[in-house]
Amino acid sequence: MYCSTLSLTNFRNYRRLDVTLPNGPILVLGGNASGKTSLLEAIYFLATTRSHRAGSDREVVHWHAQPEYGLPPFARIAAHVHKRGGLDVEIIVMRDGGEGVTTTRKRIRVNDRPRRAIDLIGQVNAVMFGPQDLDLIVGPPTLRRRYLDITISQIDPHYVRTLQMYQRVVLQRNSLLKSASDRGLRPSGAADQLLYWDEELVRHGAYLLARRLEALAQLNTIADALHRRLAGTGEPLELRYRSTVNDGDLLPSEAPGEEALAEAFGRRLEQRRSDELRRGMTLSGPHRDDVLFLVGGVDMAPYGSRGQQRSVILALKLAEVDLMLDATGEMPILLLDDVVSELDPERRRYLLEAVLERRQQVLVTATDLVPVGREFLSRASLLETSSWKDCA
Ligand SMILES: Nc1ncnc2c1ncn2[C@@H]1O[C@H](COP(=O)(O)OP(=O)(O)OP(=O)(O)O)[C@@H](O)[C@H]1O
Ligand SMILES: [Mg+2]
Repeated sequence: MYCSTLSLTNFRNYRRLDVTLPNGPILVLGGNASGKTSLLEAIYFLATTRSHRAGSDREVVHWHAQPEYGLPPFARIAAHVHKRGGLDVEIIVMRDGGEGVTTTRKRIRVNDRPRRAIDLIGQVNAVMFGPQDLDLIVGPPTLRRRYLDITISQIDPHYVRTLQMYQRVVLQRNSLLKSASDRGLRPSGAADQLLYWDEELVRHGAYLLARRLEALAQLNTIADALHRRLAGTGEPLELRYRSTVNDGDLLPSEAPGEEALAEAFGRRLEQRRSDELRRGMTLSGPHRDDVLFLVGGVDMAPYGSRGQQRSVILALKLAEVDLMLDATGEMPILLLDDVVSELDPERRRYLLEAVLERRQQVLVTATDLVPVGREFLSRASLLETSSWKDCA
């Protein structure tokens, strides 16, 4: 698939931008603060209905946007995505006014019909690789959970719905545990009320676990092959899932099925019942799990060199492209932000070659041409942010 037209209104620094984008490699060239990342962010928004970098989505609305058409200040992204069936997508992100109000409202239309965010996710597939991803291994577990959730949500509509229900159950269950802990209920008393929420938690949670393990197994197979070529050492790359519902790490390739995971999760809830009541929160489940990256048996988070970590992430990102292609039959759009400046020459060359091999729409940002390489330049279309000066 590829995004063939993109129109932005009051999105980040763009007051108004209308561009036609070709399929294949595109070099987005421009100086610092000229709107390169913002352009990629807008395309990523179409795929995930979220920003990849904003703490809150309302940050994307232009600072000076004014209320219009009876709406509070808003940013609009409209695009045509070329794929089987074709897709017109419009997202309006509203910045609700008022001091301290941080809620963001969104309005989404797909092929001119109003849709919920959850219905859009998965229709446009994109893989983003930017400087923030270089922290995937060493950053906090939330980053790795988010990575898995976003990747799987794009290929499995049931996953994104289950995730939403699971998150609601965690909130409900936490408030019950909290009020039980505040009132000093004895564990046995509160346990009866928790029964319903336990079952819901386990039912949704087991599905999330099973899908995460399945996706990790697929990613592992592809990423391992890519990584061996990239690292050139022949050492295996192994992804492990460290679950709070299980003692010891789970190997995705030998993972138990959904039913066995549900049983393990149920048992874990019983074991931790008194802890949960004391602390007033849900202590086990997919919302507390983590992923480990091992190369030659060595955990890359504490022991990997920065270069080793980069190779693993690069292999993982390319594996994500192949995973999406495999699951949907369509090449996702690839967004490579700042990688030509952040990766060393060898890995950069490998990535750009791999991208050209895959024949997909890929937007690569750079501040100058030198590091991009002749091969890529000769095949890429050029988009210069300086030609849009009047858009800001
Ligand atoms: N909500 C907003 N409204 C208006 N301008 C914004 C908003 N958010 C960010 N900007 C500005 O938009 C400009 C472009 O930012 P962007 O991150 O896209 O630049 P970039 O070309 O990727 O730069 P770099 O090469 O440094 O990564 C910056 O000057 C930034 O301060
Ligand atoms: Mg940038």
